[in-house]
Amino acid sequence: MDNKNTFTITDNRTGKSYEIPLTDGNIRAMDLRQIKTNPEEFGTMAYDPAFTNTASCRSAVTFIDGAKGILRYRGYPIEQLAENCTFLEVAWLVLNGELPTEAQLKAWTDEITHHTLIHENIKKLMEGFRYDAHPMGMFISSVAALSTFYPEAKNVRDAEVRKAEIPRLIAKVPTIAAWAYRHSIGQRYVYPDNNLSYTANFMNMLWRKVESKYAANPVLARALYVLFILHIDHEQNCSANTMRAVGSSEADPYATTAAAAAALSGPLHGGANEKVLRMLREIGHKDNIPAYIERCKKGELKLMGFGHRVYKNYDPRARIIKRTAEEVFEVTGRNPQLDIALELEKIALEDEYFVKRKLYPNVDFYSGIIYQAMGFDTKMFTVLFAIPRTVGWLAQWQEMITDKEQKIARPRQVYVGYDQRDFVPMEQRTS
Ligand code: ACO
Repeated sequence: MDNKNTFTITDNRTGKSYEIPLTDGNIRAMDLRQIKTNPEEFGTMAYDPAFTNTASCRSAVTFIDGAKGILRYRGYPIEQLAENCTFLEVAWLVLNGELPTEAQLKAWTDEITHHTLIHENIKKLMEGFRYDAHPMGMFISSVAALSTFYPEAKNVRDAEVRKAEIPRLIAKVPTIAAWAYRHSIGQRYVYPDNNLSYTANFMNMLWRKVESKYAANPVLARALYVLFILHIDHEQNCSANTMRAVGSSEADPYATTAAAAAALSGPLHGGANEKVLRMLREIGHKDNIPAYIERCKKGELKLMGFGHRVYKNYDPRARIIKRTAEEVFEVTGRNPQLDIALELEKIALEDEYFVKRKLYPNVDFYSGIIYQAMGFDTKMFTVLFAIPRTVGWLAQWQEMITDKEQKIARPRQVYVGYDQRDFVPMEQRTS
């Protein structure tokens, strides 16, 4: 048998055959364009609403095998990274492709630490929000506003500019996030303490009251960076795709990151853990679970924190979070909603509806319960997601900018509207 690395496509309308090369086992959608019934025709496209089977890029950042429940950053299993690394160590890995040496990690940590302050005018901007502004709205707007403070950031093709802006963004997002939270509880904003680790400093900015130095509980600080590591990247999800699409127009990284954060804010993406807690509150008691599941099966509701576009197996991040939850609860005391969640998971995993559709708990199912036990307001959950994901967005953005094959992202459409028709004057129009 001939082992050619091609597909042969026969157009049954014309009887013509086309040999289409395969690259990495895939065809290029542009190779379909030559398939047409006459030279005037536009040619064949691939129609793929919501990109369920379209690769938009070649990427070396994150690998997911959804069927097997595997997640790796730069080849390293997420379980090993969560067990052995600090957040900034994994951030370096995701951005640069290799684990940092001791000297690299020290320099990187120093660099991040020295960019945590934000301009006082951003603080004033944040103070201008209504007392009950959602922290995610404040986060998105403040990150976008940073763009006006760093006009040089628009030179996105300049590697030195990117090298300067990437740590700046990673350093500043916890400050913005913490200040958005302090605003929502009506307390003064706390300045960063550069002697603390990334997560301990974030906790300091969130929770310091009148003490001269904030001491983060080490178990909680560790739980937070494990959660941050798990949320760094997840290949071409809705917000990463937004980052790439907006960045492809050469918008600066602040505007681009704000756009990605906006995508994350939706309940089907980063807003899901907030919805999980609302759902657990609504269920209220284990006895109410079967009725709730029935409503999900009828399509009246979605079981929030269940299902994933890519994972058709247990989300590996959910497994790590479930373990981390136990450590956190030893410090904070058990959250009663955990018992409802555990029972809900047990029942759903045995139910034919969920089994048949391969619906398993995703990262959001348990993260909200931990965050709540740690003292975070539910309104902060998506912001907590956005902090580490900023690293992933920037890794995806940098990869896109330096990829010679990429251009401004511009999908095609299948036009299904009217053919040309003549203008109708107002007096002749009927409803
Ligand atoms: N509860 C009940 N049924 C569900 C759920 C759910 N959570 N998720 C999917 N289904 C059903 C769908 O109704 C559909 O059923 P059908 O075949 O009878 O029509 C089937 O399972 C396939 O679902 P799709 O919607 O086609 O799956 P898709 O890949 O488009 O959606 C998504 C994935 C958006 C995550 C979906 O599972 C969902 O809405 N889950 C709840 C929200 C959530 O937890 N989001 C967080 C995702 S993780 C993250 O972003 C970090």
